[in-house]
Amino acid sequence: QTADSLYIINSNAQKFFSNALVNSDEGKQIALTYLYERGFSDATIQKFQLGYNPSASNILSTHLLQQQFNPDLLIKTGLIKKNGEEWVDNYRNRIIFPIHNNTGKIIGFGARIIGKNDKAPKYINTPENEIYVKSKVLYGIYFAKQAIDKADECLLVEGYTDVISLHQAGIENVVASGGTSLTVEQLRNIKKYTDNLTIIYDGDAAGVKAALRGLDMALEEGLNVKLVLIPNNEDPDSYVRALGTNAFKSFIAENKKDFIIFQLELLLKEAGNDVTKKNAVVNQIAETLSKVNKAEDFSKQQQYVKQSAALLNVDEAGLYNLINTYK
Ligand code: CTP
Ligand code: MN
Ligand code: MN
Ligand code: MN
Ligand code: MN
Repeated sequence: QTADSLYIINSNAQKFFSNALVNSDEGKQIALTYLYERGFSDATIQKFQLGYNPSASNILSTHLLQQQFNPDLLIKTGLIKKNGEEWVDNYRNRIIFPIHNNTGKIIGFGARIIGKNDKAPKYINTPENEIYVKSKVLYGIYFAKQAIDKADECLLVEGYTDVISLHQAGIENVVASGGTSLTVEQLRNIKKYTDNLTIIYDGDAAGVKAALRGLDMALEEGLNVKLVLIPNNEDPDSYVRALGTNAFKSFIAENKKDFIIFQLELLLKEAGNDVTKKNAVVNQIAETLSKVNKAEDFSKQQQYVKQSAALLNVDEAGLYNLINTYK
């Protein structure tokens, strides 16, 4: 009941935002121009239903209140709020990215500031409510699910604009985690369409750390996880623009690395010649490999044990014993 009403309000707001983007002078001059400068086409803007919340304090509020929606529900959507007696729009002067669930209903919005501004957050997102559960959000899943199934692979990126740019470049099997660490709910949603997950994160330290945090969980869910790191200061959006579709695809294909082996090599490099640290790496890898076994894929685990034992310079039987202590 509440959920249905929230969907209706969101859908209504999306139409308002889209109209404000392409049919108002302010929307065209400020927001549409910004999207064009970033290289987004009209077709892309329409497909992802991008919009604009005008800069005046309460144009959306007035529009929604006129339609007799329940004010408590309006507040729940996070779109508008009450300041004393005055209603104000929460996403004033921001680009709006509607967020769809698997069936295409709008569960919430990401709202991006236009241009650069260090004083305000770059994105504001819908607060938790009956239909927007942050841990479940997979941006782009509605537009990507068929392509994921067809390619039997899901690309996972960090941000809204990464998803949109890759689509525009013809790479459609892609969703975004929203810059936070992966959750079990997100992984299970992906698993409905494929077992093969390729994480494409920014190559900075934060990107690597965010990716590493999701690895054991993804293995436990029975996913095969590969990793590609985008070179520093780029993200998939900027990089696909810089390289073009074909070179970007080649880059991904050539740099796709099995995530378990990636983690092992990274940890080994960090450990150097320190024996204590190297021991810790052996334990860490044993724990990771025990998750592969939990997914009941013994031949997969066997291959990993072989490869890891060789890289670690330990014997396979010993590594198996250690793995068993983690079950
Ligand atoms: N994010 C957020 N709130 C922020 C910053 C980031 O929710 N204040 C989420 C958004 O989903 C964003 C993702 O984390 O898309 C990745 O963040 P970032 O790389 O900073 O943004 P981009 O997606 O690259 O956006 P843009 O290209 O417009 O700068
Ligand atoms: Mn399939
Ligand atoms: Mn980043
Ligand atoms: Mn970006
Ligand atoms: Mn980014």
